[in-house]
Amino acid sequence: MNEVPSKLEFHFLICTNARENGKDCAAKGANLMLEELKAWAKTQGFSKKMRINKSGCLGRCEEGVVAVAYPSSEWIINASTNDLEEMKKFIAKRVS
Ligand code: FES
Repeated sequence: MNEVPSKLEFHFLICTNARENGKDCAAKGANLMLEELKAWAKTQGFSKKMRINKSGCLGRCEEGVVAVAYPSSEWIINASTNDLEEMKKFIAKRVS
C-alpha cells in the first residue's frame, strides 16, 4: 500500500443507490443529476481538477438525494433535479 496526496482539488460523490423499498436516492433522480453534473463539469474544464462520481449508500436514505464533497466534508441532503443550478454553483466555488 502507498499513501499519496490527492491529484484533485475537489471530489463530489452522489449517492445513486437503489433499495428494494424504493426509499433511496436513485428513485429521486440521482442518476440524472450525476450525469448532468458530470457533463457540465466537463464543459467547464474542471476534469483535471475534480471528479464527480457515483457513490453507494451514504446512510441517509430518507434524506436523499445525498451527496458529499471532499476535502471539505460538506454534505448535501434533500437535493433534487430542481437544485442542479445551485449544485453547479456549489461546485464551481470550490474549484479554482
Ligand atoms: S440510498 Fe442514498 S443515502 Fe442511502
